[in-house]
This record gives sequence, C-alpha cells and structure tokens, in this order.
Amino acid sequence: MKALIILIFSLPILLFGCSEQAAKSGKNVISGSAEIGGPFNLINQDNLLVTENDFLGKPQLIYFGFSYCPDICPTALQKMGSVQEELDPDGDLINYLFISVDPERDTSESLKLYVESDGFPKGLNGLTGSKEQVDKAKLAYKVYSQRVSLSDSKVDYTVDHSDIMYFMDENGVFIDFFFGKNTIQEIGEAVRKLVG
Ligand code: NI
Repeated sequence: MKALIILIFSLPILLFGCSEQAAKSGKNVISGSAEIGGPFNLINQDNLLVTENDFLGKPQLIYFGFSYCPDICPTALQKMGSVQEELDPDGDLINYLFISVDPERDTSESLKLYVESDGFPKGLNGLTGSKEQVDKAKLAYKVYSQRVSLSDSKVDYTVDHSDIMYFMDENGVFIDFFFGKNTIQEIGEAVRKLVG
C-alpha cells in the first residue's frame, strides 16, 4: 500500500504526498497552535466502552490504522513495540493505543487477536466503534483516512490513512508526532524526555 500522508488541520491545510517541504510545514503547524487530541468514546478489544479518560495518568503513544493494512500499520506498531522494549520493558509507564479507521472490519474480537501480534507493544489497546465514534476520534486527532475500492483483490477495499504516531503526555496533551520515516531512536528520544 502506498504510504499516503495527509494531515488535515483546522485551517484546513492538506498535505499530500510525503515531501520534505510538506512534512516541515506540517511540523510547524502542529507545534504551533493546532489542537491534537480530545474526547472519544470507543470500544476496546474486550468489548468494553472506553474514553480518553481511561488512558490518562500515563503518557500515550497513539496510532490510527486498520488491521488489514499489509505493511504500514504493522511497521508502525512494531516500532512502538521496540520503543516499549527499550524504555518501558514492563509496559507499565506508557499507554499504547491502536485506533481503527476501519470499524466495519475491525471488530473488538478481531482487534483482540491483532493487538497480540508479534512485535507489537505488550498491552496494546485496540480500539474501534461505530463509524460515528471512529469519525469523532479521527477528527480529534486530525487523522485522515479514505476507503479505496480494490477490484482485483481478495479483500474488496483498502484504507489509505495518515501514517502518524502521536505522543501525548499523562494529561492527554499533545507532545509530539512521528511519521513513518522517523526511526525508533528518534521516537525513543522524545519519549525518554517524559519517561526516562
Ligand atoms: Ni496502515
């Protein structure tokens, strides 16, 4: 799947593709005044209702994606797993969240299996919900996703989506974000400032 990086900001500014220019201006916008994060109501992998409040008290690493994603999402979640291994080996310092942008296929039952994939963070929370619930969470985090039909494939559609990992503090306040090109070391460096 093509890595399609699109951020929608309040202005709104759309950043298509992955140019350095776009990435840089995106960073400026985010570290400026854009509000990232906010209230959500979702269902976790144990089919329990959760809100943003359930994850406060610890910093959070948050990634939006979908379990059918062949490469982008697993790569990001494995990076998250590596950061955990390095900085949070017991998995109790940070809350790890994967929020589905494909609620139609990502049921809590299927996410229960998915979050236990090799290399993903231990204790990864897999969140999904109704389309409306997911849309609200996406809006709060300025996440883009778009369903794309596939005619000659076993699966009938894929989902293009932002490839961004968010780092929030223990109060749910946005601290930093990472693109797919950011290394484990770069993510670790930012996370270490809060949990080191
Ligand atoms: Ni993906």
